Amino acid sequence: MKLCVLVTVMLVAGTALADADADNAIDMYELGKRIYSVGSDSCMSCHGADGAGTDRSDVDLRSPGSWKSVIYEDALRSKDASVESGSVTRAIIALGARDWNEENFTIFRDHWNSEIAQPAKPFDEEMVGINGGSRKSHENFVRRGFRKAGVARPSSKQIEDTMAEAVLTYVTEEFAGAK
Ligand code: HEC
Repeated sequence: MKLCVLVTVMLVAGTALADADADNAIDMYELGKRIYSVGSDSCMSCHGADGAGTDRSDVDLRSPGSWKSVIYEDALRSKDASVESGSVTRAIIALGARDWNEENFTIFRDHWNSEIAQPAKPFDEEMVGINGGSRKSHENFVRRGFRKAGVARPSSKQIEDTMAEAVLTYVTEEFAGAK
């Protein structure tokens, strides 16, 4: 029961491009590259051009297996196979750590602590995800992409999910396995 709630709250990005038209509307790698690199507090400003980290974050984007979000996901999936790969990571990127911690951490910890000996830690709130200085400009870019492809006005949630999915696609293709 508790796990059902958990899965529901964490799957924020599952339906971003359910529409087949939307799939063709946007080049996810190019959008992801833009989000990663452009603007103040871009992903790159903390994670570096090569994903290896900076003094603002020592997370290694080249090793997804070391990410807290992936460790959490894997632990959840061992209980419930419907927990999608990438779901927690996309949620952290979309919401930023502060909102994720506020919305999900208590539910998550209750479940986690009953199963696992080591206490679960909240995410470092320095991790702002897509909430950098250029968020508005990226949103407009996504809106234009959808419009050009003749897709009906996307909701702000759809735009947010699309951005999170795109930048995770970029990070995975560009850095993961590059170590
Ligand atoms: C202001 C600095 C900062 C910015 C900007 C930032 N991050 Fe992070 N990021 C962090 C920190 C710190 C962590 C470590 C969080 C933790 O594990 O507690 C992190 C963690 C991560 C992780 C691993 C998840 C995990 O389990 O910790 C990924 C993936 C990630 N960031 C991707 C991104 C992407 C993509 C963007 C841009 C959309 C971004 N970050 C923007 C600081 C930042």
